[in-house]
Amino acid sequence: MQAFVSRRLPREGAALLAAAGGCSIQQWDSDEPIPRSELLAGVAGKHGLLCVLSDRVDKEVLDAAGPNLKIISTLSVGVDHLDLEEIKKRGIRVGYTPDILTDATAELSVALLLATCRRLLEAVEEVKNGGWTSWKPLWMCGYGLSGSTVGIIGLGRIVPLTKLAEKSDFVVVTCSLTPGTKGMCNKDFFSRMKKTSVFINTSRGAVVSQEDLYQALVSGQIAAAGLDVTSPEPLPTDHPLLSLKNCMILPHIGSATYATRNAMSVLAANNLLAGLKGESMPSELPL
Ligand code: DGY
Repeated sequence: MQAFVSRRLPREGAALLAAAGGCSIQQWDSDEPIPRSELLAGVAGKHGLLCVLSDRVDKEVLDAAGPNLKIISTLSVGVDHLDLEEIKKRGIRVGYTPDILTDATAELSVALLLATCRRLLEAVEEVKNGGWTSWKPLWMCGYGLSGSTVGIIGLGRIVPLTKLAEKSDFVVVTCSLTPGTKGMCNKDFFSRMKKTSVFINTSRGAVVSQEDLYQALVSGQIAAAGLDVTSPEPLPTDHPLLSLKNCMILPHIGSATYATRNAMSVLAANNLLAGLKGESMPSELPL
């Protein structure tokens, strides 16, 4: 059996693959993304592919892989980079990494929420640039979490979006990107939010209309936004959202703890190895 791994993996997952008998692994052994041409060449004739969320696995990649390809294991819980319809049509199985990154992502969501609503980035900047001249009663005031209503899109009971926007002091988006959620946080959504409310997104950038978010922030329709995900990623450094003081943007680090990324790599490696042997995977995506 032959597999292609499209990125250097965290230590524990890499060790599992290195120790796997009966399987030859070819790898793009770099922290940097694989060029498309290398991915197309690397996957040719392979039985398995272990990829990351920045690899677009579409018809072109599947055609380049050819009929041997039986298993795709992604080092992510999100699967919006995979053309699932085409994958299903070809009888390819998919492994992914749910649950193990939930805690790390939840921590990051809370950190981003607090940093955004209490304006931490702006405040640090003021210390560095000499803007901190004295303690002042209203300087650097933000909105506190205590006693507020936090609306979470992607958790628990389904509340109509409009109601969630209207009732919440903070809106946190954690849902997956699907055709149904694409662009769902748009002009209408932001116009229903309170002027004092704060918007947080740790799911996928394309859930949000970034043009509408920009207008909502500039016009004061909402107070601030914190994003861990954007569209595209990376966000170009001259993007209008980056010019706003009331918008804090992180480089998709929701699951970025050493322990979590290691656990993800172990699960992704085990999914790949089980799939190659035709066994049941620890985490298989139902297709
Ligand atoms: C995922 O696994 O889909 C996450 O976005 C990575 O942080």
